[in-house]
Amino acid sequence: MSETMEKVVSLTKRRGFVYPSSEIYGGLEATYDYGPLGVELKRLLKDDWWENIVRERENVVGLDASILMAARVWEASGHVAGFNDPLVDCKKCKARFRQDKLEQSVCPKKKGKRPGECGGELTEPRQFNLMFKTKAGPVDEDAATIYLRPETAQGIFVNFKSVMDTTRVKIPFGIAQIGKAFRNEIVTGNNIFRMREFEQMEMEFFVAPGTDEEWFDYWQNERLSWWQSLGVRAENLRIRPHRDDELAHYARACGDVEFKYPWGWDEVEGIANRTDYDLKKHQEYSGRGLAYRDEEKKEWVVPYVIEPSMGVDRCFLTVLCDAYEEEVKPNGETRTVLHLHPKLAPVQVGVFPLVKKEGMPERAEAVYQMLKPVFRTVYDKGGTVGKRYSRNDEIGTPFCVTIDADTLTDGTVTIRDRDTMEQERVAEDQLIAFLADKVASYTR
Ligand code: GAP
Repeated sequence: MSETMEKVVSLTKRRGFVYPSSEIYGGLEATYDYGPLGVELKRLLKDDWWENIVRERENVVGLDASILMAARVWEASGHVAGFNDPLVDCKKCKARFRQDKLEQSVCPKKKGKRPGECGGELTEPRQFNLMFKTKAGPVDEDAATIYLRPETAQGIFVNFKSVMDTTRVKIPFGIAQIGKAFRNEIVTGNNIFRMREFEQMEMEFFVAPGTDEEWFDYWQNERLSWWQSLGVRAENLRIRPHRDDELAHYARACGDVEFKYPWGWDEVEGIANRTDYDLKKHQEYSGRGLAYRDEEKKEWVVPYVIEPSMGVDRCFLTVLCDAYEEEVKPNGETRTVLHLHPKLAPVQVGVFPLVKKEGMPERAEAVYQMLKPVFRTVYDKGGTVGKRYSRNDEIGTPFCVTIDADTLTDGTVTIRDRDTMEQERVAEDQLIAFLADKVASYTR
């Protein structure tokens, strides 16, 4: 892990964003738990996506399909036969690698060594299916093998007809879903970047064949704008088109939204043209018609699909990496700060009494109660004001409001801006409007 990544991970653990799962039992590789601040940020990201993809559009509806689905779904989709990674083992140190990622891999057993550099020979590649299998039913021998879904998308495809029949949607339209997905990844790493249990936000947008390339461009642009609306800096984002040899079995084209992580450019989201592959496969395997009626052409047509798909956890890591900064203050001291967009900050306002006397705590408590229904607000009276600023810089709190002696005489408070560290005085009765304007007009 790079030094910067280690610092980001240490902050997320120290401040209660992300903890290794089952840590008191030594942990379980590639699984993580979200702490009090993490769960808040994760929820805000999902809400922002849902708002942008579903609520603000007339032609996208939502869905929440189950994680467990009929095994035939995964036979039809090609996952049983083809959702494989090529696995190789080092005969000497027993480390395990993905053969298609050898170039980028380092040996987990021998620090600083590349695969096979310990003097071990690598085995021939074996295909390893990434789906987790489980049993449905109480008696193991009779129970049917089913799978934990490796993508949420198939839940959307198998509900395509139900949604068309029960709502007023017309092609072109989308179905969006947020939910857990599971992959038995051979190589994990970089904290929550690649996990075995993760969450996806996916949308399948159904379009008339022949209009798919236009919609593919449209959704790439839309998605890039959304990333920027989160405050992620444009210079850290790009779209990389897939080469033909890296396209998934169902895709005709794919553009990855990539972010410049501490270890280099990597995928955070994929926008794929899945053609009519999935719906046609499900038609074939289920025997049910999954076409729509094209009234102009007077024929039944299986739509093409454009799919923006991303991992919530990877989105979370992206936002944190972009926000993280170690900054040298004018007095020479270093501060760690998360420049989170105020709409994503788990805590938006910290309210502090300057000292714990002269009626300041009571006045601060009243300001806290006033702000709490409008902003995610905390009341903090522990330690010096400087310490309270540092704590809040580290968790990305954009505004700190301090109640001091002047508040008691003229009713004004100090607002300290996280990014500039500048302070200004505002009347208490103007505080909500002032902060709301700051949140709405934020640019980094
Ligand atoms: N339905 C298409 C699909 O699942 P994918 O490229 O395999 O495509 C989409 O996954 C997104 O899901 C990725 O861009 C990434 O953000 C996230 N993702 C995939 N595997 C992941 C893993 N093991 N851990 C965390 N996120 C993952």
